[in-house]
Amino acid sequence: MFIRTHALLADRVLLPRWQRWSTYSTFALLVCTGVFWWTLDIDRGENPASAAQVWLLRLHGLGAMLVLICFGALLPAHVRIAWALHRNRVLGATLVAVILLLALTGYGLYYSVGDTMRSLSSWIHFCAGMATPVLLTLHIYRGRAARRSRATQPQHVTLDSQQPLLNAELKHDYR
Ligand code: HEM
Ligand code: HEM
Repeated sequence: MFIRTHALLADRVLLPRWQRWSTYSTFALLVCTGVFWWTLDIDRGENPASAAQVWLLRLHGLGAMLVLICFGALLPAHVRIAWALHRNRVLGATLVAVILLLALTGYGLYYSVGDTMRSLSSWIHFCAGMATPVLLTLHIYRGRAARRSRATQPQHVTLDSQQPLLNAELKHDYR
């Protein structure tokens, strides 16, 4: 029964199609609007922001709110169960840290007082933003590759006193 329950738990790490695509599309919206805004900003000099830049930031702000909803929706099942199963932890935790950094520096862009803090927030935010698609792609690729290789190996599952959350999940019958 434990092996069957373990397999059911591993299935809950997979995202339903709507959730996978809403995560991909909100990240894509953020990256496209962020990069496009930045390329327009290079030639701006001392001129005020163009109408295109203003609209790009409006869209970016919308994407930021949506992405945080998607991120929150991943925490109770995807992140919690994958973490308990010790799957894809390094890239997953890095992704969580980078998203938190983006949220923090995004807040800094709105509310920082002084030019130094603002331009520091801006640079950290842009660099973390550029790293996100690379990290997400690696995370998904590594996670799926590991699942494919596990599918060809026999699974041995035992209760482990170091994993209270996994034990609690394993003891629960999902029928
Ligand atoms: C500590 C945090 C995390 C852990 C331990 C983790 C673990 C995993 C694992 C094990 C997989 C492979 C699933 C499989 O194919 O069997 C995976 C896939 C995936 N992860 Fe994560 N993850 C974490 C955080 C995140 C975050 C923050 C995001 C996005 C914001 C994310 C998005 C995805 C997506 C889109 C997939 C592909 C899922 C699918 O094909 O259904 N993960 N993750
Ligand atoms: C969790 C994800 C993200 C959140 C919460 C977020 C949030 C924000 C916020 C609140 C702003 C300020 C908007 C304004 O001033 O009206 C901003 C600006 C910006 N974001 Fe993001 N963002 C995220 C991801 C990204 C990504 C993936 C990129 C990709 C490059 C990016 C690039 C930018 C750029 C270039 C700016 C303008 C910087 C400036 O005004 O100096 N962001 N973001």
